Amino acid sequence: MDSLKVGICGLGTVASGVINVLNRNQFEISARAGCKIEVVQVASRRMRDNCDMTGISFTTDLNELVNNPDIDVVAELIGGHTLAKDLVERALKNGKHVVTANKALIAEHGNDLFSLAAENGVSLAYEAGVAGGIPIIKALREGLAANKISALAGIINGTGNFILTEMKDKARDFDDVLKEAQALGYAEADPTFDVEGIDAAHKLAILSSVAFGAPLQFSKTFTEGISNVAPEDIRNAEDLGYRIKHLGITKRQSNGIELRVHPTLIPESQLIAKVDGVMNAVLIESDAVGQTMYYGPGAGSEATASAVIADIVDIARALKAGVAPSVPPLGFSMDKMKEIPVLDIKECVSAFYLRISAEDHPGVLAEVSSIMSRHCINIESVLQKESARIGELIPLVMLTHEVQEAKIDEALKEIEMLESVSGSVKKIRVAQFAQAK
Ligand code: HSE
Repeated sequence: MDSLKVGICGLGTVASGVINVLNRNQFEISARAGCKIEVVQVASRRMRDNCDMTGISFTTDLNELVNNPDIDVVAELIGGHTLAKDLVERALKNGKHVVTANKALIAEHGNDLFSLAAENGVSLAYEAGVAGGIPIIKALREGLAANKISALAGIINGTGNFILTEMKDKARDFDDVLKEAQALGYAEADPTFDVEGIDAAHKLAILSSVAFGAPLQFSKTFTEGISNVAPEDIRNAEDLGYRIKHLGITKRQSNGIELRVHPTLIPESQLIAKVDGVMNAVLIESDAVGQTMYYGPGAGSEATASAVIADIVDIARALKAGVAPSVPPLGFSMDKMKEIPVLDIKECVSAFYLRISAEDHPGVLAEVSSIMSRHCINIESVLQKESARIGELIPLVMLTHEVQEAKIDEALKEIEMLESVSGSVKKIRVAQFAQAK
């Protein structure tokens, strides 16, 4: 085999990155793959001038590409659901290997699609779907194959991290930063996927399966976005020595796994709290190696293209050796995958940041702490922000020790009923990670 023939569906940010990087680094890539990697056809709704299409046939008909007998690998880079799913299914049935950057497709339909790929003796690779350019799937599936993984936490949406960073560093407002992220090509076609945590939940569901060997369970992921993180919460967190990050967390517990995406306070001294801008990071706790963290650009044209091409190189190497790609898609042999229940968020345990809008008169703090004490909730620190007073109301900011979420919710219900407390209490979860040894 002298050359591997690739067809690309889509001609957006990632597809143009793939063509540009393949052109620029053709010597290194073919030397690593053992053969030339050639894009022979692109199918897209319209032609664009974002890359050099010399020698590449162009069609607006996706069918033509998936049925093209000259194509060995289909790169699905159109995103979305229905069309992409249909396209990937047809390509796999036609005996073509598929590489995709589509995390929604994998998180929601991966269980069936991986089986379909196996039935047809081809591979379905998706490194580019999670954390952009960071080879996190390879790290989990191959590099950490010796380990029992106990927990994983990641900043896995570049847009969300970019927004929180700009809000903290430059006191910019949410909408303004989101527009910039869209212009830079980081955001999803529907940016609510970024800010409401759906994109991160897709990625977390995939990471959790690869970490724990369970089938994909996207629909059971608890998801809370960043649109309710107020600038004053960011400032309060800073005053307390924390940063607010939008984290995806999955943890192995004796009775199931935690699977949750939400804004999270992290002590500012921890490495993951320092991950800013569009950068992503995934922190993994495992028994043999201990704590490891993987850091890099989580979105962007060439960063994501780097992961797409790495998957294509894997396929080229296997075909060149005359074998089928042999790393199981979710890291565990498919017949050894086991269902693991996902714990309800109410069962999860963490510390909490609370912002209570309370009247400033004697006894209010005592009332609040007596409710906390009745629910066995230990308060770690209290901050009263005189500078944020609005008339009679003053924000009372608290950090608690770890407690089950159901318990804190019961206490908050009672606190919100106090006459001296106005509106609902703002609650943000707090996470601590053991420092790497
Ligand atoms: N919208 C995604 C992000 C793109 O901001 O991380 C990469 O998946």
